[in-house]
Amino acid sequence: MFKYSIDTLISEKKIHEKVKGLAREIDGDFEGEEILLIGLLRGSVIFLSDLARELKTEATIDFMVVSSYGNKMESSRDVKILKDLEEDIKGRNVIIVEDIIDTGNTLQKVQQILQTREPKNIKICTLLDKPERREVEISVDYTGFQIPDEFVVGYGIDFAQKHRTLPYIGIVKKEEE
Ligand code: IMP
Ligand code: MG
Repeated sequence: MFKYSIDTLISEKKIHEKVKGLAREIDGDFEGEEILLIGLLRGSVIFLSDLARELKTEATIDFMVVSSYGNKMESSRDVKILKDLEEDIKGRNVIIVEDIIDTGNTLQKVQQILQTREPKNIKICTLLDKPERREVEISVDYTGFQIPDEFVVGYGIDFAQKHRTLPYIGIVKKEEE
């Protein structure tokens, strides 16, 4: 393991303002309706729990675990469901809540799988987006922040399972020995 430090990229305050803004956007789009928030474990859990508490729209929460092959060698990166939803999504307003969209492969596959279950609609809400890294086209409905191609941690996002509990988003900076 190399030595590294974590430089703040997005402060706790900025995150909370943005989360409130996203909640207002979602409320505006779903007036008088109910939504189902689907979090992809584990990265989305902190974002989802803050977002859910800002929403005025009636919301149900469910979670999924999908395998992600971080290995960029694979061209058609297959995504498998390791833990499926408890809820039946047929005819419902689904919002997939994600921590960060990188290549877009994970969300594209999840969206395809969920689409076969005939929800009323599926929207995507991500806290962070690295547009430079995109490999597949995916339409994102609610984006918190677009960030540069840097490896980030905090607010649910990990580096080898560490740093998820940081209240801010930081960039992992490799340090010279
Ligand atoms: P995608 O399929 O390439 O879009 O993968 C997105 C997933 O990769 C995210 O949900 C994260 O779990 C992980 N990921 C992408 N970028 C980062 C990062 O900068 N830090 C930590 N995890 C990341
Ligand atoms: Mg993730």
